[in-house]
Amino acid sequence: CSLQPFNSFGIAARAQTLVHVRCVDDILQLLAHEELRRGPFFVLGGGSNIVLTGDVKAVVLKVEVKGLRLLADTPQAWIVEAGAGELWHDCVRWTLAHGMPGLENLALIPGTVGAAPVQNIGAYGVELQDRFESLDAVDLVTGQCFTLDATQCGFAYRDSVFKHAPPPAMANDGGLPRGMGLAGRAVITRVRLRLPKPWKAELGYLDLQRRSIETGIAQPTAQQVFEWVCAIRRAKLPDPQALGNAGSFFKNPTVTPEQCADIIARDPKIVHYPMPDGSFKLAAGWLIDACGWRGKSIGKAGVYEKQALVLVNRGQGQDSVTGGEVMTLARAIQTSVYERFGIRLEPEPVVV
Ligand code: EPU
Repeated sequence: CSLQPFNSFGIAARAQTLVHVRCVDDILQLLAHEELRRGPFFVLGGGSNIVLTGDVKAVVLKVEVKGLRLLADTPQAWIVEAGAGELWHDCVRWTLAHGMPGLENLALIPGTVGAAPVQNIGAYGVELQDRFESLDAVDLVTGQCFTLDATQCGFAYRDSVFKHAPPPAMANDGGLPRGMGLAGRAVITRVRLRLPKPWKAELGYLDLQRRSIETGIAQPTAQQVFEWVCAIRRAKLPDPQALGNAGSFFKNPTVTPEQCADIIARDPKIVHYPMPDGSFKLAAGWLIDACGWRGKSIGKAGVYEKQALVLVNRGQGQDSVTGGEVMTLARAIQTSVYERFGIRLEPEPVVV
C-alpha cells in the first residue's frame, strides 16, 4: 500500500502492511494475529514529521482514534481529552470555539494529536509540555493500556521517550521500559491537555510582539493571537498540501556562552536567544541561510525560499523527491554549517 498520501513530504514509499487503528480493540486484535503480532511496528500519525528513505518493512499502524471532549472544568484549568487521530489544528480550533483558550500559539501545526507529544511540538513561545496533562497508550508487546504524565514522557525540546528506540535487550521482555525509549513499542491513543485559568496571552515571541505593536492591540484575545499565529505561519511556512515538507528539518542548536561569543565575534548578525540555564539557542534557519542555501536544490530536494530551515519536495506524484535525495541535501547542509560555524545540526523529523 502506498504511503505517499500519508506523509506530508509526499515521498512515494510503500508499506507491506498497514493497519488502521480506530480504537484500543483494533490494537488488541492485531496483537492476537499470529504473524502480525511479532512486529516490528511503525506508528504513523499525520506523517508530518517523518522522512521515508525506502519502503517500510515494519507493520505500519495508522492511528485514527477520534473524539474531543471536556473532561473537567475546575477553577484552575480546563482538562480536554482528544483522540490521538484527531488533527492537531482541529483540536486547537475546537477548544477556542468552546471558550477554552490556551492552545492558540500552537495553531496550524500539521499532524495529529497523537504525534504532538512525540516531538513535544512547540511554536511562538509555547510547547506541548506547557499544556500537557497525561496520555493513554497501549504497549505493543503486552497489549496493556497505560497512562503517562509529563515527567514520564521525558519531554525536552522537540523530544520525548516516543522518539527513542527501546534498548534491544528490553525490546521483547514483559515489562514496559519506562523512562527509556518507547518508539515502536507503544501506541498513543488519547491525550489530555491542561488549559490553565486565568488565561493570559503568550506574546513573548518576537513575531507576536511585532503584530501587537503594528495593530496597536496590547491585550489581544485568544482568537486574535490564533489569527496572528496563522498569518505568521502562512507567510513563512509552506502548506504541505501545496508543497511537500516536514516543517523544520533541523533542531535549533544550543551552544555554551563561550561558543556563542566566539561566533558573534565572527558573525555579529547571528540570531541567538539566551536560555534559562545560561546557554544560548541559535536559529538554525539563520545558519543555513548564511551558508547560502536558501532557495537552492539538490535533485528534487529543495530549501524553501522563505525559511531555510524547511526542506521541500520539488517533485510531485511518481516524480516526487526520494528520502535519499532529502538526506543528501540535509548532509550537504550539515557539512557547510559545520565547516563555517563548527556546529553540528541535528535533524528534527524521524528518519525511517
Ligand atoms: N531566519 C533567517 N533565515 C531563514 C530562516 C530564519 O535569517 O531562512 C531567522 C529569522 O529571521 C528569525 C530566526 O531565524 O530571526 C528564527 O526564525 P523563525 O522565527 O522562523 O523560527 P525558527 O527558530 O526557525 C522555530 C521552530 C518552528 C516554529 C517557530 C516559531 C524549531 C526547529 N523550529 O523555527 O517549528 O514554528 O520557531 O516558534 O524549533 C517545526 O518544528 O516544524 C516548526 C516549524
